[in-house]
Amino acid sequence: MQYPKRYIVTSALPYANGPLHVGHLSGAYLPADVYVRFLRLMGKEVLFVCGSDEHGAAITLKAKKEGVNPGEIIERYHSEFKSVFEKIGMSFDVYHRTSSELHHQTSSDFFKKLYDEGQFIKKESDQYFDSKAQQFLADRYIKGECPKCGHSEAYGDQCESCGSSLSPTDLINPISTLSGEKPVLKKTTHWYLPLENHEGWLKKYVLEGELEGEEHHDPSSWKNHVIGQCKSWLDGGLEARAMTRDLDWGVDVPADIPGSEGKKLYVWLDAPIGYISATRQWAIDRAEKNADAHEDDWKKYWQDQESCLIHFIGKDNIVFHCLIFPVILKAHGGYVLPSNVPANQFMNLEGQKISTSRNWAVWMKDYLDRWEGMEDSLRYYCVKNMPEQKDSEFTWKGFQDAHNNELVNNLANFVNRVLVLTNKYYEGRVPEIDEDIPLEGNDEFGMPSYHETELMDLFDRLDAFCESLRSFEIRNALRQVMELSSYGNQFLQNHEPWKLQKEEPDTVKVIMNVGLQIVVALSAAIYPFMPTTSDKMRKMLNLEPLKGEGELLELLNEICEGTHLLPAGHQIEKPSHLFTRIDDERIEKEVSRLRKGSEESLLKVEKEPDLKSEIDFETFGQLDLRTGTILHAEKVTGTKKLLKLEVDLGFEKRTIVSGIAQCHRPEELTGRKVTVLANLAPKKLRGILSNGMILMAEGDNGALEFVSPPEKFKNGQPVR
Ligand code: 2FM
Ligand code: ZN
Repeated sequence: MQYPKRYIVTSALPYANGPLHVGHLSGAYLPADVYVRFLRLMGKEVLFVCGSDEHGAAITLKAKKEGVNPGEIIERYHSEFKSVFEKIGMSFDVYHRTSSELHHQTSSDFFKKLYDEGQFIKKESDQYFDSKAQQFLADRYIKGECPKCGHSEAYGDQCESCGSSLSPTDLINPISTLSGEKPVLKKTTHWYLPLENHEGWLKKYVLEGELEGEEHHDPSSWKNHVIGQCKSWLDGGLEARAMTRDLDWGVDVPADIPGSEGKKLYVWLDAPIGYISATRQWAIDRAEKNADAHEDDWKKYWQDQESCLIHFIGKDNIVFHCLIFPVILKAHGGYVLPSNVPANQFMNLEGQKISTSRNWAVWMKDYLDRWEGMEDSLRYYCVKNMPEQKDSEFTWKGFQDAHNNELVNNLANFVNRVLVLTNKYYEGRVPEIDEDIPLEGNDEFGMPSYHETELMDLFDRLDAFCESLRSFEIRNALRQVMELSSYGNQFLQNHEPWKLQKEEPDTVKVIMNVGLQIVVALSAAIYPFMPTTSDKMRKMLNLEPLKGEGELLELLNEICEGTHLLPAGHQIEKPSHLFTRIDDERIEKEVSRLRKGSEESLLKVEKEPDLKSEIDFETFGQLDLRTGTILHAEKVTGTKKLLKLEVDLGFEKRTIVSGIAQCHRPEELTGRKVTVLANLAPKKLRGILSNGMILMAEGDNGALEFVSPPEKFKNGQPVR
């Protein structure tokens, strides 16, 4: 397999509407980081971009709920994301944001070009509208039953349960997430991208890896579940999709387009273009610092057909990255199309779906605060359990086991044994070896020496490891690295150098030399997964930390040429422990913390009042509330609940029928001070015209109590 000339790698832009958890990490971020670090080790030209997705209904909804500006929400999460990503070792070349001027310009220009070239169709349609909130209800502003799987909380753009992509009118029994009200249909005009016109080439591109009559990529390198989702969409037939929304937060439809007022770009003409604007920002920043760099350097990544575009995402974004974004790019023209979209499935936690609302998650920020210095252990476990082909499971026990059994007992143990013995036998100097020393039957004339055989085996292992990473089999690649470490341990165990040192010191030199070469190889192979651990190992080996500048390629070449990875005489450092064991207590604490946190959040939800939707001041001002006194009360015959009251409002006497008979006896009510809604339209109840309403407060058990003004108040006083 040939490597392409250069790579542009993206991780899904996270929505700046809530914190990141381990599911995000192992879905779209870690795999990309591992892949990119690997490519850099192989000396490839690669740019890795990401940023915060700061538009979309989820952000405005959250702002509304908290009573703050959307700007406050995005600021909070953007800075949290940046810090979390940095601490966990994400090696982005740029981490940008879609609220930036540059992004607004980039996506708006994209829209304008598509518009000018007649790529859109303008259509009037009926869309759901919330009359209370006076707003159209796109995407997450509307909920209802999924027509595909019956999930009761599907959104207007997608069902999170079955992953189906939906439009609001598909929902059964839709309700507005703004007011909880049933929405009404109202006419609005939008620009649509006729996806059906692109079906022909799209099928060839996705299913056969062919573009404009040429081979674009190897379709068998795409994951089955990714192709499967695309295929079911393509088989179902594509339809025109609105590329604009009636919203007040997002990128404006360019002002010079007639009818653009109040319209924003649809998230899929916004967020993925964020990858491009992030790359532009990277080029601008670099051009400021380097005389030989140019602001247009982003173009070679996106517009030179020798670039390979790879999108790392979660499975909920497959359709957008495999179908819609490619159509947008192709319709625009001049851009490369994704060569692969290695989407991951979802990660569950302790047997349940990760859920933000139920606070059932391992939050990245929490982990980083509480497990400082153990970032690599989380990276390790999240790669080991990456939902590559199917949903996976994070358990704290699994995390502990992986750390203790694999990182401590296997990797740290092997490295430690080799370095301790090297220090003990040779004062930390790599021993010179006599390659002709026979070991394990490698003594035949003309056969490679034992040392050579071991290094050839090492090469094969590393080669297979590289192949796994190139084909996005990231879990497999990690397993191969750990197998190399197990092999190292086994190798020491088989030869028992500690028993031979006295009698056969030259043989031991060969053994220890092989051990040291394996440790060097491990320090490189482990780097994509656990960069800090690689640094530590290399420090102990007295080697420079890896910078991702082709060192693995160089190492493979050295092995091929028979050059030792650590030359004889090289002085190593004293070893220190790479990892220490995690005890049960610490893990139990995490589990109970998780359960407690979730229970508390459920209680909070229960306690949260079910508030009616907001009204403006004028509406409130229309209520005419007055003080009054009950003059007389009697039961309404034939009812259990109703009392007929005569109420003195000062300026007049009123008859009011009130449903309080189960809480109050009529004979006790004469003279009681009450508050009355005096301008409520009269209504006939059991033949009696009721003219107003008495305000009652409802207790926990449903008991109704009068909202009474103080005794000294005259009747008819206004209440505000
Ligand atoms: O689903 C999401 O998380 C969105 N913020 C979109 C991410 S992919 C996009 F950036 F293209
Ligand atoms: Zn569904």
